[in-house]
Amino acid sequence: MEGHYFSTSQSAPSSPFEIRAKARGRELCLISDRGVFSAERLDRGTRLLLDSMELAEGARVLDVGCGYGALGIFAGLDGAGEVLMVDVNPRAVGLAWLNAQRHGLADSTLAVVADGTGALARQWADLCLLNPPIRAGREVVASLIHGGAQCLRPRGRLALVARTSQGVRSLARVMADVLDEVGTVAKGGGFRVVEGTARVSEGPEDRRGNPCANERPDAGPHMGERPFGTPGIGR
Ligand SMILES: C[S@@+](CC[C@H](N)C(=O)[O-])C[C@H]1O[C@@H](n2cnc3c(N)ncnc32)[C@H](O)[C@@H]1O
Repeated sequence: MEGHYFSTSQSAPSSPFEIRAKARGRELCLISDRGVFSAERLDRGTRLLLDSMELAEGARVLDVGCGYGALGIFAGLDGAGEVLMVDVNPRAVGLAWLNAQRHGLADSTLAVVADGTGALARQWADLCLLNPPIRAGREVVASLIHGGAQCLRPRGRLALVARTSQGVRSLARVMADVLDEVGTVAKGGGFRVVEGTARVSEGPEDRRGNPCANERPDAGPHMGERPFGTPGIGR
């Protein structure tokens, strides 16, 4: 699909600009562009998710559907040890990577173009942040929730934000299919943040140091290597 913020290609010519993004008691200057989600200003749901985010020092954070990277970048500045940002929209991923670099987070951040989380390692993240692409449809959103949950370490948490009027309660039920202790942790302005905790898996714990692993333990790229050869996306 072309032209939506969740498209793999954008018809609107690129024309980057700066926006101010306020959350968690700080204000950041982020680079945005046409053809990405909430291009002109930080989304209110994103801000609610950020303001309610509990982050342990050194945590591994997965920002699924990162857009221009607001969630991952605030997390990186607030003590996350490693941040992995993924989005299906290459323009968004380019911005997320640029914003990470501009905030001194290049050494602890990866930004990757990916459709969902299928190419990522299971049991890697302590915290998965998701402001889902409601307009992409329920199937896509459900697959991002399921995929995000699979990327969590045991006891890791997935935090999702959505508008109450856009079915956040039914998304909470989707979360409850794959996560424990699902409940609302914040609400305001017509949005709700719902969190759930990873079930302790009975399978083998795989490839903890590698957020982009494939089937064989030695097949995927590692933090510190360039995961995909796409120019402008990295690290
Ligand atoms: C509502 S926006 C949130 C963007 C950003 N996290 C924020 O809060 O500003 C959802 C994002 O999910 C991305 N997305 C949609 N479908 C996706 C998929 N299948 N895999 C990865 N990302 C996807 C969209 O391109 C979009 O950037």
